Amino acid sequence: MGIVNKDNITDVVIASLGKHGEITERQREIMTSLIKHMHGFVKDVKLQHSEFLEACAYLERAGKLCNDNRQEFILLADIIGVEVLVDMMTNPVEGNASESTVLGPFYRENPPVLPKGASTILKHFENEETAYYEGYIRDQAGNGIAGVTMDVWEDAPNGVYENLDPHQPEYNLRGRFETDETGHYAFVAVRPVPYPIPEDETAGELLHFMGHHPNRPGHMHFIISKEGYRPLISQIYDADSDWLNNDSVFAVKESLIGKFKPAAKDLGTDLHFEFDFVLKENAEAQAVAAE
Ligand code: BEZ
Ligand code: FE
Repeated sequence: MGIVNKDNITDVVIASLGKHGEITERQREIMTSLIKHMHGFVKDVKLQHSEFLEACAYLERAGKLCNDNRQEFILLADIIGVEVLVDMMTNPVEGNASESTVLGPFYRENPPVLPKGASTILKHFENEETAYYEGYIRDQAGNGIAGVTMDVWEDAPNGVYENLDPHQPEYNLRGRFETDETGHYAFVAVRPVPYPIPEDETAGELLHFMGHHPNRPGHMHFIISKEGYRPLISQIYDADSDWLNNDSVFAVKESLIGKFKPAAKDLGTDLHFEFDFVLKENAEAQAVAAE
């Protein structure tokens, strides 16, 4: 430890790591990088004390907003592209496996379990376009995987998720489906519409500070899981939606964009959306198989 000045302070703080208690290599790696980047940021923008106090008060307000229905820090991380980057680090693109993207704050556990081809629509809207969604879930060798669980959820044609809208029935536009013996899935839902992420309180302040908008393009969320495979948390995007190239949370991936086409009469919906997914085997399952 020594006397600090603006030139040596970063090295002095880093040198203090682990001096008064054991830390792991990962803790050292994380703290070293965090200190370097935070000090660099403060120097870069010549952060003033009044701005530092404003930032602390802002984080205090954000913390007080967190409850079972709102995780403000994830939302703030989404607005500056951090959650999507963390997802890219956690789930790197591998071969032909489907890409993941952010979970978002609107997933509900234990959605209604529905048979293949059933509808998730529990309330109709004048502007709705119904759609038949179908496709195959395959392994990386191209074989359909039977018995895959697929949770789906989306906003209603008014742009609001069911759990935030007192005028929609519980679990509207949510369901849990399973692939058949060939790996095929199918369900009926609506074409998702663009909607704004919460733009009140500290999330809204951040969007305003950045001069950015809150809108997301129309998308359907999925969690696809089956023992022996890595769970896939992802979304598919409507190729014709507004905001596709300007998503407020930067979560769109080229490979997740699909096209709604007019449906053949026998499907009984306005539109037809076909999309296949490829799951990665998880590392432990591969190790067991190799034994
Ligand atoms: C969503 O797609 O539901 C979402 C993702 C990130 C932030 C807010 C909403
Ligand atoms: Fe969403």
